[in-house]
Amino acid sequence: MKFSKFYFGVDYYPEHWPEERWPEDVILMKAAGFNIVRLAEFAWAKMEPQDGQFDFDWLDRVIEILSNQDIQVVLGTPTASPPPWLMAKQKDLFRVDSQGNRLTYGNRREYCPNHPFYHQHSHQIASKMVEHYAGNKAVIGWQIDNELGSRCYCNICRDRFHKWLQKRYQDLDNLNKKWGTVFWSHIYTDWSQIPVPLKLPLPANTGYGQNPSLHLDYNRFMSDSYRTYQKLQIDAIRQYTSEQFITHNLMGFRYDELNYYDTVEDLDFVSWDNYWRTQWNMESELDPSSAALSADTMRGLKRQNFWVMEQQSGGGGWDTVAITPKPGQLRLWAYQTIAHGADAILFFRWRTCRTGTEQNWQGVLEHHGIPGRRYDEILQMGSELEKIGRVLLGAQNTPQVAIMQSYDTRFAFQIQPNNPRFDYKQHIQDIYRGFFRANIPVDIVSEKTSLDGYKLVFVPAMYILTEKMTRNLEQFAKGGGVVIFTPRTGVKDDFNTVVNKKLPGLVSQMAGVEVEEYISMPIDEDSEIQFALSDLESQFSASVWADVLKPTTAQTVAHFTKDYYTGQAAATINAFGDGKVIYLGTMGDDTYYEAIVRTLSGLADVHPLLETPIGVEVAERWKGDQRLLFLLNHTLQNQEIQLDGRYINLLDNKPIKDTITIPPLDLIVLVD
Ligand code: GAL
Repeated sequence: MKFSKFYFGVDYYPEHWPEERWPEDVILMKAAGFNIVRLAEFAWAKMEPQDGQFDFDWLDRVIEILSNQDIQVVLGTPTASPPPWLMAKQKDLFRVDSQGNRLTYGNRREYCPNHPFYHQHSHQIASKMVEHYAGNKAVIGWQIDNELGSRCYCNICRDRFHKWLQKRYQDLDNLNKKWGTVFWSHIYTDWSQIPVPLKLPLPANTGYGQNPSLHLDYNRFMSDSYRTYQKLQIDAIRQYTSEQFITHNLMGFRYDELNYYDTVEDLDFVSWDNYWRTQWNMESELDPSSAALSADTMRGLKRQNFWVMEQQSGGGGWDTVAITPKPGQLRLWAYQTIAHGADAILFFRWRTCRTGTEQNWQGVLEHHGIPGRRYDEILQMGSELEKIGRVLLGAQNTPQVAIMQSYDTRFAFQIQPNNPRFDYKQHIQDIYRGFFRANIPVDIVSEKTSLDGYKLVFVPAMYILTEKMTRNLEQFAKGGGVVIFTPRTGVKDDFNTVVNKKLPGLVSQMAGVEVEEYISMPIDEDSEIQFALSDLESQFSASVWADVLKPTTAQTVAHFTKDYYTGQAAATINAFGDGKVIYLGTMGDDTYYEAIVRTLSGLADVHPLLETPIGVEVAERWKGDQRLLFLLNHTLQNQEIQLDGRYINLLDNKPIKDTITIPPLDLIVLVD
């Protein structure tokens, strides 16, 4: 999808405020440089106050005020938060949670995604909205629902699950075989006997206790259910318009109840919500690499630039009062998403609300509606984007490194985390942070992505591994690529059953190694490894897993130096076609990943964009052959950066060479 301008705007809830205030809001928005506003995503009760009675007059009026100031509109379908009259109609419209409890009214996202009656009403409200707004030039697109997700375990879902299974397995014998239901005598003789994987009251740390094959399929089915639900609304919209875009606001890297690669298939482009600092984060967790990882993940979903539909505009709090970002941080965080591929940014929200659950979630304006420090900071950004937005728009991030992740593997680890200290997302994040600290850009790609164009592909703990994925990786390595595996790779097949092979299973041959013993380390004990590579001769502590390796064709590059497996291989490198395959038999801390990443990137001829002090992030985007280099200072000190050539500062058009000092929480965009 191509846009003619960089969109900069805000999420606005005019229905929360007196109509007399709307013109003043819109004048302030215009002055801040906003050219887009998202409306209506939680306004179902205002648009359909009673069953079948629709009222768009108020929305027409606000859209007119906005469009008179050349501010365009994205409309949200309001289905994340249904009105009470709808939910009062049938008890089973409410979701059942994983403990088997049916939700009640009073929050949002309470609906069952498979309920035919909810489908019917969602289709109707979406259709009515589009019928009304398809021809409105100010409305350029649609956001479906809000942050889809939350699994349901009700009887309607159970029936749908049975249908889903019938399609996947055709006959029950096949399912019984693939799931290995002979274990504990779970051999099904009728589809209707198959349960949903409720969290049973089991002793601590024994997890769900359901058959992992059943459970993985249920997680997949739930993800598909939301995709179907989203598609129903997309179809409603496409009855009336082919011009307005359709997107959905996803939740970044950490959310994992949906297979986001599937979720975005039916959308024109990806949008997501970027919250750096909320009431739920500790100060110590504020890590610039987290938001960067989310942005790179969102860009990787379609391998295209994205919109940020909700960018933090103040502190994020619900029951506790938000911790306000420091001066400079809102702008810095917003530019960070641009550095990673945003072609539009909308701040959440315009004005802090006086009523409801989110009274402590700060908008651009405070409760009183008088512009203050946050407004001024965003206005500064607005005036900068008026100058440079067109240069940024559509510029591409082109990393040479990919980290491969899979939602099937995520779902499988949700069911069986394998080791109490192991967290797949954290493992990816740790590896990503190694690249981030080295200023080496990364794409986060799916297990199905073509790997053409990359030099190095890191494949952390790819637990569920198929023949197809293996062929893809082999082809990449044969063609000269560097592939890196870590423990828990190749353990399971597509049905979440353990492979009948030595680990790392299907990729054992390309890695030239077999795992003799996989040791799940105690939570209070680490091991140690010693590397013996020419530019990496260090010792590191090793944690969580110790895969004792037996090279078949690979060369050993690290040994364990502790415990009964001392002296045995801990990491190997195998020549494979024109490329190399590395197996790292353990996990480690930040120093380990930073060292590993630098050394192994060197093997792939991938180098840091620039060397910078810790806390200064570097990212690049390319517009044709023009390079845009972003330097972002996330620290509270001035930072002096040694440059590698002559540049122009895009923000003031002045030339710069040798060194540059970036003030605290500030940034610079350089062009060659
Ligand atoms: C987002 C959500 C918004 C708002 C915000 C603050 O995740 O999409 O609707 O709730 O959080 O809580």
